[in-house]
Amino acid sequence: MSAVNTSGGQQVGTTNIPAAADKVPGPDDGARNEPAAPVAHWSDVTIEDVFAARDRIMPFLHRTPLRSSATLSRMTGTEFSLKIEAFQRTGSFKTRGALNALLQLNDEQKARGVITLSAGNHGQGIAWAAREVGTKAVVYMPEGAVPTKVEAIRNYGAEARFAPDMDTIRELVAECQREHGYTFISPYDDARIVAGQAVVGLEILEDAPDVETVVVPVGGGGLIAGIALGIKAQRPDIRVVGVEPEGATVVRPSLQAGHPVRAEKIETIADGLAAPVAGVLTQAIIEHYVDDVVLVSDEEIINALWTILDRTKILVEPAGAAATAALLTGKAGARKGSRTVSVLSGGNIDPAKLKTILPG
Ligand SMILES: Cc1ncc(COP(=O)(O)O)c(C=O)c1O
Repeated sequence: MSAVNTSGGQQVGTTNIPAAADKVPGPDDGARNEPAAPVAHWSDVTIEDVFAARDRIMPFLHRTPLRSSATLSRMTGTEFSLKIEAFQRTGSFKTRGALNALLQLNDEQKARGVITLSAGNHGQGIAWAAREVGTKAVVYMPEGAVPTKVEAIRNYGAEARFAPDMDTIRELVAECQREHGYTFISPYDDARIVAGQAVVGLEILEDAPDVETVVVPVGGGGLIAGIALGIKAQRPDIRVVGVEPEGATVVRPSLQAGHPVRAEKIETIADGLAAPVAGVLTQAIIEHYVDDVVLVSDEEIINALWTILDRTKILVEPAGAAATAALLTGKAGARKGSRTVSVLSGGNIDPAKLKTILPG
């Protein structure tokens, strides 16, 4: 179904997903751009899993609003609305998947605690959810992580640890997991995470049943895999389009290669979208359901951020502006006059970064 998937055909696998997802990706996973072992299939997460996730998590979370904007409609040439995940607990959609995963821990796993790696928002989601379910959380982050995200993770009660780069982080996470028996929760390549993020798709469908194109920012691919599943399993006629920064694209080249590959470079203002490697489960789901993945520049993301602030008074982080950038530039390929929904995925902007992108 994917417009960028030139491989033709799905991976067919039989492996148990939670077990595969519990494995910390090794520094070499995807590094040589060779096909990953076929360990996942798009049907490994079902719409029933998504409904169950909604029932499990929504008693604790906000149902975020869908807001239209006349000016953004005019500027995009579509009937435009924003799904405002910046208003979710912890300031991003990440809390949905994190809570869905942590609410399914057994007593022994809960007693030991969880470990994850994150650019910041997933770490906040895990830290918040860990506090809710009463378990310990350790979050490894790159040394350059946004300070306000680090502070929030600590304020929710999790332990924040740092390493210079993702390869080192993965090694340290694996080591720490072995030593303490923590459960690893991937930021995106995990059936429980995908099912939790998919609840965003259910809500969009309820609030905008006449939507024609849903545009979603893409990092590792958990959000778009979930939203595409939540929508397309019920309404295959709706287009779902992903957006990556030009300076940090992994999902588009992975679809072109037919297997998850590594980012060639990670250089973007959108720290939330700077995933170093695509997921295996997410790849299978995205290949099956997603119509296209397009690229936007940092300049286009920054323009979208200021346009959103100007027109809706909502301050988003750069990752949260990427989908709107693709609609403003016409790259999302939405039909003129059709109903569109742009997923405003998070609002945790770094005040120091904000100063550097102020319009001159
Ligand atoms: C604000 C924001 N938007 C989008 C994404 C992308 O999500 P995913 O990695 O599931 O594709 C992230 C990931 O951290 C994020 O923090």
